[in-house]
Amino acid sequence: MATVGRTQTTDIAVHWKEEEYIHPPAGFVGQANLVDPVADERFSEKHFPECFREYADMLSWDRYWHTTLDTSTPPFWKWFSGGTLNACYNCVDRHLDRHKNKAAFIFVPESETEPTYTLTYQELFTRVNEVAAVLRDFCGLHAGDRVTIHMPMILELPITMLACARLGIIHSVVFGGFSGEAAGLRAADSESRVMIYADGYYRNGKLVEHKASADLAVECAGHEGQKIEKVLVWRRHPGQELLTTPMVQGRDYYMDELLKGYKRAKVAPVSMDAEAPLFLMYTSGTTGKPKGCQHRTGGYLAYVTGTSKYYQDIHPEDVYWCMADIGWITGHSYIVYGPLALGATSIIYEGVPNYPDAGRPWRIAERFDVNIFHTSPTAIRMLRKAGPNEPVKYDYHFKHMTTVGEPIEPETWRWYYDVVGKREAVIVDTWWQTETGGFLCTTKPALDPMKAGSTGPAALGIYPVIYDEAGKELPPGLERAGNICIRNPWPGIMQTIWKDNDRFVRQYYQKYCKDPKSTDWRDWPYFAADGAVLPPDGYYRILGRVDDVINVAGHRLGTKEIESACLTVPHVAEAAVVPVVDEIKGRMPVIYVALKPGVSDGRQVTDQIVTTVETMIGKIARPKAVHVVPDLPKTRSGKIMRRILAAISNTMDTGDVTTLANPEIVEQIRQQVQGEGPVVMQEGPEDVKRFGEQE
Ligand code: PRX
Repeated sequence: MATVGRTQTTDIAVHWKEEEYIHPPAGFVGQANLVDPVADERFSEKHFPECFREYADMLSWDRYWHTTLDTSTPPFWKWFSGGTLNACYNCVDRHLDRHKNKAAFIFVPESETEPTYTLTYQELFTRVNEVAAVLRDFCGLHAGDRVTIHMPMILELPITMLACARLGIIHSVVFGGFSGEAAGLRAADSESRVMIYADGYYRNGKLVEHKASADLAVECAGHEGQKIEKVLVWRRHPGQELLTTPMVQGRDYYMDELLKGYKRAKVAPVSMDAEAPLFLMYTSGTTGKPKGCQHRTGGYLAYVTGTSKYYQDIHPEDVYWCMADIGWITGHSYIVYGPLALGATSIIYEGVPNYPDAGRPWRIAERFDVNIFHTSPTAIRMLRKAGPNEPVKYDYHFKHMTTVGEPIEPETWRWYYDVVGKREAVIVDTWWQTETGGFLCTTKPALDPMKAGSTGPAALGIYPVIYDEAGKELPPGLERAGNICIRNPWPGIMQTIWKDNDRFVRQYYQKYCKDPKSTDWRDWPYFAADGAVLPPDGYYRILGRVDDVINVAGHRLGTKEIESACLTVPHVAEAAVVPVVDEIKGRMPVIYVALKPGVSDGRQVTDQIVTTVETMIGKIARPKAVHVVPDLPKTRSGKIMRRILAAISNTMDTGDVTTLANPEIVEQIRQQVQGEGPVVMQEGPEDVKRFGEQE
């Protein structure tokens, strides 16, 4: 599978033996949403694509669709053609008749002394309408316009997203921990003329000033030729000045002040075509430029609603807590759109999981009687390390838990099951991607036994296949890893890459397309860029990325993005970024650089590199180490051999290096890195994470 010159996280995958099955607890099975043993048959290929009506029928349509799947322009599939609906109406308005006084969200501030806030569906409706009025009447935004939202985990984030959806405005949420530059680049790519910010937020007990990022974002978007006309700023404490960064007159506006003019405004939800884009979510790929994954309204909403019901097992009376950040796809699908479409009650927590101590998540769970819990292996590893016995001190009872975003090793899985779940909760290990909108592989929680470390079988209506590089199918039980692909379209799959149809086809479909002229979906497998193995029982085990993406704490970083940032440091001649195994975060980037002739102060350059990476991408991309080396190993044609550097950093065999242009450098680098020890970047005590990311 390996390609010369590339580093693949599959190459450093941790291998473990097959684990025992664990059956779902009877208490869970007795109440589960999906208990029908013939569900697989209902969603089998024989019934495709009509099987997905089951998910679409969970929504309220303004006009019912006439064609479930239109394959006339592959791979640009169209779902539920002819249908119209509004995503905000489905998530808010339709619950008011019966549930207006039910909590939609319970906001838990990071400080334990600040009161929590319960937002009912009625109040959510009122606030979303008022914000929609600001967007429409003050900003002049219409259906199809794009808005970039760069906000932390506060209630105003989903409120703003839903206000966009109400008007058919395409939102592009950028993770709050990304830098202003990163947000500005994304705003420029999506041609947003309005950006939405918060002035600040609490993290690790400190107020983080966020408005400064807006100024950088506007400047950066300007360099790219995109003028940001308005910046709307939510205040963490309305009416209070927290800022040290001044507001720019005529450009920056406080939302609490604007909203005074739109009290009790009502904005009718705009009925959107099922295929109208709902949002963009930028993610890293093989090139330096992040790509805007464009998700559709009807298919996406149907898919996340169906999967939230069947796999997250959300009932209206549950208290659900997904500890992801809304700035990632997990938050969009499984905090905002899926759960709200089902009328769920969700916790939104502002801060880091172990603030002020490792008992915090379990105190929140006890206080609100959370019974569905959703997080990542990195967060689980971190909480286990910080407080292995904390969960037993608290009186909470989960019926269901999720792990998502990266492979989980069986030992960590067992702690999650035994200690966090108290052996009462079922666990689903859901494998999917920003591009896929919702789950691709997972156990059906009441129907399939769990197997630690394996994601499980395909989700309903998803037909995976593992191909080798030559396109030959690897049957189950072969014990060989290959590229996992999905043979069929499904409603949650992205529509395209924003403004880049060619890249969409090239990246996801070209590799295994059987006939580019065919309009038969069977000829267009989706290439997920993950390595996987399939044992005889059909439980997929995901090994990691096969492209130039590093999965840090469940978040995707492109090696090329980090390398480009390094190359902006004046003294750097060449840079290579490789993944290295990290005990908590799964993988972290390590940077190798060669300096321009005559530069001797390596330490100073190292510091500059770290600062540059943090400024251009965000602290999430902070490297585990930076190695200044005399030269980088290269092939005779001049390609940097990242695989060799990855092998060195992970103390693995570098293999045969004799064909390189500069074979002697390998041993020199190995001695430097392994002998002298790496220049490890210091992590400050404030460096705690939600989902494991660094500030
Ligand atoms: O490598 C896979 C890994 O995360 C990648 C997708 O990252 P992103 O688009 O940021 O979406 C994260 C939330 C779904 C995948 O290509 N990944 C995701 N879930 C799992 C996983 N690896 C192993 N097991 C999982 N459950």
